[in-house]
Amino acid sequence: MSDLFAASMAGQHTHLAAQAGVLHGFALPFAEALLAGIDAALAAAPLRHLVTPGGHVMQVAMSNCGGFGWVSDRRGYRYDRLDPQTGQPWLAFPEGFLQLAGKAAAAAGFAGYVPDACLINRYAPGTRLSLHQDRDEDDRVAPIVSVSLGLPATFLFGGLARGDKPVRVPLLHGDVVVWGGVDRMRFHGVLPVMPGRHPQLGAQRINLTFRKVR
Ligand code: SIN
Ligand code: FE2
Repeated sequence: MSDLFAASMAGQHTHLAAQAGVLHGFALPFAEALLAGIDAALAAAPLRHLVTPGGHVMQVAMSNCGGFGWVSDRRGYRYDRLDPQTGQPWLAFPEGFLQLAGKAAAAAGFAGYVPDACLINRYAPGTRLSLHQDRDEDDRVAPIVSVSLGLPATFLFGGLARGDKPVRVPLLHGDVVVWGGVDRMRFHGVLPVMPGRHPQLGAQRINLTFRKVR
């Protein structure tokens, strides 16, 4: 057993709030399956920079897999069963995706988690994600399971009000953040990703966020 795998088996967790925490290295045993699944999902639905209702082009490049995909345009934010760019359904969850999401949620205290959407966010160096709440899902209690791959990043984890000062959480390839229940609506974001090269992913960070939409 590799040291990294042993570390993830040992279950190093960082507590963030009553129902939120970081599972360090939890996704490492799934990394190969996740990277293959991301390639397949992006072949079906290429990364794109969405436009916000306010007319801004998002820095993060996005796509989706699973039953629903999060999309944004001048009309607003919403979940759609079809990719508006191709008119086709998003790729169904690739092998390993539901297993990882379910196991990570269970390890964080949320048994029986079955998400129906997975956003794929690609951060080039310099890209940030401003503080926001995930509020387009019907289910505001089921956890968000957020998987970091590639370049490291600093995650901002705030409170239930926009003005609450966020804590800074360093995230590495393979880390999984879970927040749900009373902490589901916390503001969060990502500081600009520092330049670098990751052995598997090169000069980028890819984040998967699993959500339960319906
Ligand atoms: C998100 O809030 O959707 C993504 C968070 C992250 O990239 O870590
Ligand atoms: Fe988010």
